[in-house]
Amino acid sequence: MNGGSSAVADNTAAAAVEPILDVDGVTLQYKTKEHLITATYRVDFKVYPADRFVLLGPSGCGKSTLLKGVAGYMTPVEGAMTLKGKVIKEPGPDRVMVFQEFDQLLPWKTVKQNITFALTNGGKCAKQSEAEDIAMHYINKVKLDRFEDTYPHMLSGGMKQRVAIARGMAMEPDVLLMDEPFAALDALTRLQMQEELLQLWEDTHFTVLFVTHSIEEALIVGSRILVLSPHPGQVKAELNAHQLSHESVGDPAFGELKAKIHNMLFADRILEDDLEGKGQQ
Ligand SMILES: Nc1ncnc2c1ncn2[C@@H]1O[C@H](COP(=O)(O)OP(=O)(O)OP(=O)(O)O)[C@@H](O)[C@H]1O
Ligand SMILES: [Mg+2]
Repeated sequence: MNGGSSAVADNTAAAAVEPILDVDGVTLQYKTKEHLITATYRVDFKVYPADRFVLLGPSGCGKSTLLKGVAGYMTPVEGAMTLKGKVIKEPGPDRVMVFQEFDQLLPWKTVKQNITFALTNGGKCAKQSEAEDIAMHYINKVKLDRFEDTYPHMLSGGMKQRVAIARGMAMEPDVLLMDEPFAALDALTRLQMQEELLQLWEDTHFTVLFVTHSIEEALIVGSRILVLSPHPGQVKAELNAHQLSHESVGDPAFGELKAKIHNMLFADRILEDDLEGKGQQ
């Protein structure tokens, strides 16, 4: 792989690079007995190899719904989602999800067993010994090498999330789907996990579709950011953030992009506030 994040940033220039994931005019709806809820409306985006692609938007704008669609749990009522040129019709081991909740591990299995089970059960490894080698490789990567025989209830929240990430990466999916994986962690651990995720990415350049409603997290983690409007989610903008990381948090460029996104997300509210303010004068 050449040149780390600059190669990723240039993917639009490299006409030969095909997107791994193509979301094209996708409307996703929930049908309940009484209501038809449109969660996302005609959303377009493309994820290229080694992108750290972030879906950013307010609560309820359809971020998790989009991940469910990519994971194959929901079918669009309009538009299409394709993975490596094939329409997504069902879940598969080529897309693995990491969730926010700490209880996504099997409590009766150790750290290592949680990963080997996913590998053998998911059809990635036929041999147990091969699964164990891969599991240990990723356990080392997330710095849990003394905890491979530990059960989840003996781990902290951050450690459990590391196991879930190791399990997801061990499956070597085409796209790793992460739905607010650090949202339930304390601020310090969250920062540490963001740094670790970037280090892992420097190592293996995996492709990740990452959901957050934190502007700062989007800027730190993402190479590209899709800003979504409030419910129903529509694309407001797609921005480059490949030049930013946790090291640039205090920099002017970080602050500028943060303010720009903030204004985008709160434009409607600011307008309302302005109007109210003028009314009072
Ligand atoms: N199972 C469901 N049945 C009906 N409506 C749903 C269901 N899940 C989500 N919705 C609705 O779809 C919309 C989008 O929800 P979604 O969970 O995708 O938002 P989100 O952007 O992930 O929000 P958050 O940041 O709070 O996680 C919301 O209006 C929500 O009420
Ligand atoms: Mg969500």
